[in-house]
Amino acid sequence: MTNSTIGLIGLGTMGAMLALNIAEKGFPIAVWNRTTAVTHQFKAEAGALAPMITPTETLAELVAAIKPPRAIILMVPAGEAVDQQIAALRPLMAADDLIIDAGNALFHDTNRRSADAQTLGPHFMGIGVSGGEEGARHGPAIMGGGLRQDWDRVAPVLNAIAAKYQGVPCADFMGPAGAGHFVKAVHNGIEYADMQMIAEVYGVMRDGMGMTAAEISQTLHGWNKGPLQSYLIEISAEVAGATDKHSGKPMLDMILDRAGQKGTGRWTVIEAQHLAATIPAIEAAVMARNLSSRLPERLAGQAVFGAAPQAMAKSTLTLAQLEQAMIAGKILCYAQGFALISAASAAFDWPMPLPEIARVWREGCIIRSSMLNDMATALTEDPARNLMLAPFFAEHLKATHGALRQTIAAGALHGLPLPALASGLAWFDMMRTGRSTANMIQAQRDFFGAHGFERIDGLDDKHGPWSGHGI
Ligand SMILES: NC(=O)c1ccc[n+]([C@@H]2O[C@H](COP(=O)([O-])OP(=O)(O)OC[C@H]3O[C@@H](n4cnc5c(N)ncnc54)[C@H](OP(=O)(O)O)[C@@H]3O)[C@@H](O)[C@H]2O)c1
Repeated sequence: MTNSTIGLIGLGTMGAMLALNIAEKGFPIAVWNRTTAVTHQFKAEAGALAPMITPTETLAELVAAIKPPRAIILMVPAGEAVDQQIAALRPLMAADDLIIDAGNALFHDTNRRSADAQTLGPHFMGIGVSGGEEGARHGPAIMGGGLRQDWDRVAPVLNAIAAKYQGVPCADFMGPAGAGHFVKAVHNGIEYADMQMIAEVYGVMRDGMGMTAAEISQTLHGWNKGPLQSYLIEISAEVAGATDKHSGKPMLDMILDRAGQKGTGRWTVIEAQHLAATIPAIEAAVMARNLSSRLPERLAGQAVFGAAPQAMAKSTLTLAQLEQAMIAGKILCYAQGFALISAASAAFDWPMPLPEIARVWREGCIIRSSMLNDMATALTEDPARNLMLAPFFAEHLKATHGALRQTIAAGALHGLPLPALASGLAWFDMMRTGRSTANMIQAQRDFFGAHGFERIDGLDDKHGPWSGHGI
């Protein structure tokens, strides 16, 4: 009975695919699902992989089916379900066994569960898994958090199932406790911003340039052969080229413009605020998703103000400029994401390895893109330097920020909202401004609250001539 290398709980979309992936890589796996019929159906449909799979009907059976020291992956909805499963497993497992939460947990929960594991046992790890259903089945990107020795123990399985970039597994240890889930949250934040920027340039092409979905698809296919080569551009080209089987119209034109979310982008933004990290492109992307869902309000706005005259004259903007704007936006969005991880590394005293994070994201995950290899190189040169200052990306930004400016200016003049691209540009301009306008803020604060300020000449006089005017 005790012949499985690893166990897995939760044979939903992700769990089932992950279990098949593990079995396929030669590791016998024991599985358990809350609804027992699902477990048996899973085994019945596993085909040639069925002999590697041990279905179990109780948690005690599951635990008994795994070779000690045991490792069990949880692939259930984040939150209460994870706590319930840990509580149910705890009395059945030995102190040196290991529970791995591979769902999209909030990293604070992973911190709490890691701390509980130290006193209550068994060992606990939180791993971020990216790549959706397809990734789980054929190779996800995996971001591990917990104890290094626990990671090392399960690394042979995780490395085997992970996506490979030129033979290198896209799986690595990110740091203690919730570090893996934190990095996954930032991944999702970057994913939000990258998707939003693509949606914004799509809007410029559709509404500003009057291009058809087929023309947009062709353009995106072309971009996917250049610096923008990425999974998200690739699938955007695919969806833009698809036809609706009911109406015969482009599929995109038949989809309601109300975007859903599961909240991981929001977590990233909230955490960035706590850390005083500046990620405006990601914030704008989360805002845009929230606003997209307010369709009745948008329609009311259109009724009062009228739709903006979005069509542009042909000479306003070229597709080459739009591509460059997207390149600049993408660099800025990733630079913000990596800077957030740096801020968290310092604040939580977790030395999260930035170059390795870029390497892990090169394949398997939703934000995989050719730029990530160059980012890994730039972060290896100097992990403490903001990515926009790395010579390779600084040169790209010097060459493209003009086009980003043209795009945003055209968008503003034609009523085409470009919140993520515009936030990226404002951040870029603030990051290159030696003399900002915060002197005005400091003067205001001193006026109404006597907060004091630093002087540029170093004199020790912290208050302005308005002292005493405050309330
Ligand atoms: N879908 C994705 O693309 C994706 C990508 C990365 C990460 N994730 C994360 O992976 C996790 C699983 O997602 P999923 O898409 O696979 O979900 P799913 O398809 O809804 O499957 C959920 C699984 O969890 C089980 N479950 C639900 N509540 C439970 C409870 N209280 N106790 C025990 N088992 C319970 C379900 O069992 P029953 O059969 O009994 O209902 C089912 O096996 C989530 O944290 C999700 O955020 C998902």
